[in-house]
Amino acid sequence: MAEEVGYPFNQIPAETFGSYRGGVEGWGSICGALVPAISVINLVVDKEDRASLVNELMAWYKEFPFPEFQPAGLDLPGVPINSSLCHVSVTKWMEETGYGPRSSPERGERCAGLTADVSKFTAAMLNKYFEEGSYTGQYAVSPATGQCMACHEENVKPYAHGKEDCIECHGDPHED
Ligand code: HEC
Ligand code: HEC
Repeated sequence: MAEEVGYPFNQIPAETFGSYRGGVEGWGSICGALVPAISVINLVVDKEDRASLVNELMAWYKEFPFPEFQPAGLDLPGVPINSSLCHVSVTKWMEETGYGPRSSPERGERCAGLTADVSKFTAAMLNKYFEEGSYTGQYAVSPATGQCMACHEENVKPYAHGKEDCIECHGDPHED
């Protein structure tokens, strides 16, 4: 993009995003593929439109069975993760596919492919946005999260915050 389009892409040293690997230097926090994609959206999209594209990326990410892009031809299984956290993503993928450990070539190829998938989806979203002048998302927070937050966002204590799938970590504590 820096070479083909120039500004603003030629203003970003790639080193800016160096520490996001492994969910921020191995902390397993936010998936590092998302951070540069979100940054690029913020660089080029109008302020009032950015949330619709970023929400779409986050909501799509939790459902997509990464990795689709597999140039090494390893034929790795795709697993939807239902979380934007690196820890959940890598751990669930290893558990469901039997591949691992974290340093294995398959896991490396999986996260590299995922990064390409995120880039491709973001580019397609941006193209659509600039062609049509707006963006209407197709993905959303999970229905269960909507139900949990109908109470916990501001009606009952303990208050909670977020759009991730609550059940992924808490289960449903109110069951039975
Ligand atoms: C009808 C309103 C309502 C909904 C919907 C609701 N909660 Fe709650 N939640 C409460 C109230 C009230 C409390 C505090 C009293 C209690 O523990 O039951 C609570 C407590 C909690 C607690 C702390 C106590 C515990 O049991 O661990 C967690 C965690 C929690 N809710 C998560 C969730 C999640 C996750 C969902 C969605 C799957 C959800 N809640 C849906 C009303 C709700
Ligand atoms: C990545 C895991 C994770 C996700 C996803 C998550 N939580 Fe939590 N949540 C935690 C942790 C960790 C705590 C703090 C420890 C605790 O109290 O259980 C917490 C605390 C809470 C508490 C306070 C519990 C208490 O006993 O005071 C509530 C209520 C809660 N979360 C609701 C939700 C709701 C609603 C969602 C969905 C929007 C959600 N959480 C998503 C991990 C998560």
